[in-house]
Amino acid sequence: MEIFRVKGPCRLKGDVTVRGAKNSVLKLMAAALLAEGTSRITNVPEILDVRIMGELLRRLGCEIAYDPEAGVVEIGVPEAPGIQADYELVRAMRASICVLGPLTTRMGAAHVALPGGDAIGSRGLDMHQAGLEHMGALVHLDHGYFIAEANEGLRGAEIYLEFPSVGATENILMAATLAEGRTVIDNAAREPEIVDLCEMLLAMGARIEGVGTSTLVVDGVASLSPVEHAVVGDRIVAGTWAFGAALTGGDVTIHGVDPLTMEAPLEKLRQAGATIERGEKLIRVQGPERPHSIRVSTLPYPGFATDLQPFVITLDAVSDGIGMLTENLFEARWRFVNELSRLGAQVTIDGSHALVTGVETLSGAPVESSDIRAGAALVLAGLVAQGTTEVSGIDHIDRGYEHFAAKLSGLGADIERVEVADPGLEGLLAP
Ligand code: EPU
Repeated sequence: MEIFRVKGPCRLKGDVTVRGAKNSVLKLMAAALLAEGTSRITNVPEILDVRIMGELLRRLGCEIAYDPEAGVVEIGVPEAPGIQADYELVRAMRASICVLGPLTTRMGAAHVALPGGDAIGSRGLDMHQAGLEHMGALVHLDHGYFIAEANEGLRGAEIYLEFPSVGATENILMAATLAEGRTVIDNAAREPEIVDLCEMLLAMGARIEGVGTSTLVVDGVASLSPVEHAVVGDRIVAGTWAFGAALTGGDVTIHGVDPLTMEAPLEKLRQAGATIERGEKLIRVQGPERPHSIRVSTLPYPGFATDLQPFVITLDAVSDGIGMLTENLFEARWRFVNELSRLGAQVTIDGSHALVTGVETLSGAPVESSDIRAGAALVLAGLVAQGTTEVSGIDHIDRGYEHFAAKLSGLGADIERVEVADPGLEGLLAP
């Protein structure tokens, strides 16, 4: 197996460039299904999830041409794509669920495997289901598959989301573009990635009003056309570098992301004692000698992103006070805390709150990542820890971060990606 071996402590210094957002590109690739012909998506990051989504679309009958270095994916969509997303792909990447809306509205049916639980909570699909049902689809579960049927096509509806779910907003929005009549999505999520999706859909010929607000009004059209679209910069990857600079007392200039999409985390970093400079698609973060503790509650955008939660806990772990993190989106995002504790972090969990008492130093140890952001945060923790930290489970990090180790090396970190023997105990069980 492969691990990241990190030797600390170090300060991150230099420039780093961020490409398109994982949580946008996957949905844009699914949106291509809405139009026959070839759509071209640019500013695509070189991450595993793009390959998984490419494979899913290929199995639906699309032709995929992916140039990771250039950051371009071309998706040739046939007149009648397939309708089934297999379990092995959905299990590997939960975001596969975003083909549900496009397939149901364009093909009149979709069979998408249920993702099941994962490392960050139960993550239900009830709002996806209710939205499609309001639009006239018949939905049921069959042998582990979420089956949506709309033989006569979908029709517009007034849909109120009880929570501004990113995935449900995206599926309903995409479904509405080809539905008959008007759909209103109230309490819609308004993450920059949803704005990005709206912009691609508008360029394809969709009729959407209220882009960037919590009420999206969509007037269905008969068909959409393929387009070329550049993915919005990844604010979560940019946030990762920003927290990395702040917690190592470094000085990092991040290129490729609009600071306006990062108001909440930049304000928290300022409270932690970092100096922030902003430019057009540029952010410079200079960390303090030692960060002040911060208090953060995760919320839907424009609130503080849950995906940056592990970085807050890591920063508080080496801060000069007592910090607090309240997780309001995912109930089980704490697995990471046990690993961070192995490095000497002092964290107490109480329900949805983590109380973090800062310590002067962490000490390197082997740790395992449980999801994409937890993995990246453990690597950053390794940068401030004394000695060697070995992070396993790095396939999680590959899902969302391109050239993570190389970029960290470029900023002065002592990190290598190494192959090691799996320390499993299988041999002991042999007869
Ligand atoms: N929820 C329901 N029912 C639904 C839909 C959502 O109960 O029908 C609940 C979930 O269980 C969760 C909350 O609503 O507690 C938020 O879920 P949401 O649908 O907003 O999240 P998502 O679409 O599943 C996306 C990102 C996540 C990010 C969240 C929140 C993608 C591929 N994933 O997930 O990103 O944390 O929005 O911003 O876009 C990551 O990148 O590592 C990641 C996990």
